[in-house]
Amino acid sequence: DTPSATILDGKSYPKDEWSNVNQKILSYTSRKLHLQKYNPLCHIKRRIVDFMYKEFPSRTRSPLFSVFEDLSPTVSIEQNFDSLLIPKDHPSRKKSDCYYLNKNHLLRAHTSAHQVELMRSGLNNFLVVGDVYRRDEIDKSHFPTFHQLEAVRLCGLHDVFRDENIARELKIFETGKVARSPEKQESHTVDAVMMMTNALQTTLIKLVHHLFGKDVETRWVETFFPFTHPSWELEVKYNGEWLEVLGCGIMEQSILQNAGAGDKIGWAFGLGLERLAMKLYQIPDIRLFWSVDTGVVHQFKVDDPYAPIIYKPVSQYPPCKNDISFWLPENSTFSSADFYDLVRSIGGELVEQVSFVDEFYHKKKQRWSHCYRIVYRDMSKTLTQEEANIIHSAIEQAAVKNLRVDIR
Ligand code: PHE
Repeated sequence: DTPSATILDGKSYPKDEWSNVNQKILSYTSRKLHLQKYNPLCHIKRRIVDFMYKEFPSRTRSPLFSVFEDLSPTVSIEQNFDSLLIPKDHPSRKKSDCYYLNKNHLLRAHTSAHQVELMRSGLNNFLVVGDVYRRDEIDKSHFPTFHQLEAVRLCGLHDVFRDENIARELKIFETGKVARSPEKQESHTVDAVMMMTNALQTTLIKLVHHLFGKDVETRWVETFFPFTHPSWELEVKYNGEWLEVLGCGIMEQSILQNAGAGDKIGWAFGLGLERLAMKLYQIPDIRLFWSVDTGVVHQFKVDDPYAPIIYKPVSQYPPCKNDISFWLPENSTFSSADFYDLVRSIGGELVEQVSFVDEFYHKKKQRWSHCYRIVYRDMSKTLTQEEANIIHSAIEQAAVKNLRVDIR
């Protein structure tokens, strides 16, 4: 029987109709890959933190940015969404997109969830590194847990305009009422936004050069986040394709106000560590970060985070492909996300990819049928078809039991 509460980090979360975390997902919360000295995510984190320290020297001997990398991944709805002005009906809140402990708590979907509490504690410059959780598709670059590094920098007048004479002439905030435009929020001056945008984008391009060298191709894409305006994504070229590696922008002023920092203007960015590390080390599959196979782990066992490592495939073991077709339950509440999750919770890291093959509607039966192809592959040995079949039929049975489908 299923327990009525989830225990995590010593706290108890009573289950309700929103609860959708499973044991497999919960087991990832204890891995803390970004804190494991020889994990590639830890190496890249150290390079980035190191860069931020050097880029923003302080007058004291301690670094300007404070680093938080062990905050609990369980956060409230308030932290993950409300405090960041994410509308009540925003798609990112959907049960099919997040891992909820219950209606009040979830596994953080981004490290931005910690922005407000840290600003409220009086910090102007901080980094947050942590594991984040999203229900997503399954392929070589998606895994339900990944890692982000968040940066927030709040600036007063003299941080924005470093030149004394200029600071005397200019302001951060408009005095009269000015409309919001694509370029800026209503309360900010054009001058302040230009200076902040320049500082933010220069920092990030320097960071990308620091990681990949000056030859890396980059482009800015304008985007929208509820918690920043204006907002951008930075993409880098990887194997001939543009890869989104971070989101950033000028923080919404009402968030700063609510956090007791209304006299400052801020920028923030959140970058995905796996995406950057995959490019840096030429790691072909996101599951490799979780590998405990010595052939994989050994390659990153160096004390110097700047060691130039190129991942060497531990030899490609052959995949096993099995299809699954089923009738969806009548008057269905079936979602593909539920199926992907179920596949993950049973197949774990042996599942390389799940793809939607096709669907059709049977007029006489009045039912929908879905077909998915599951690719199984072990990263460290050959998976036999018999072994794959055992997992596959466990998945079939669980789908019948939990999702009420009928196998065809
Ligand atoms: N939290 C955003 C995401 O996960 C990234 C972001 C962070 C964007 C900070 C703007 C500012 O996609």
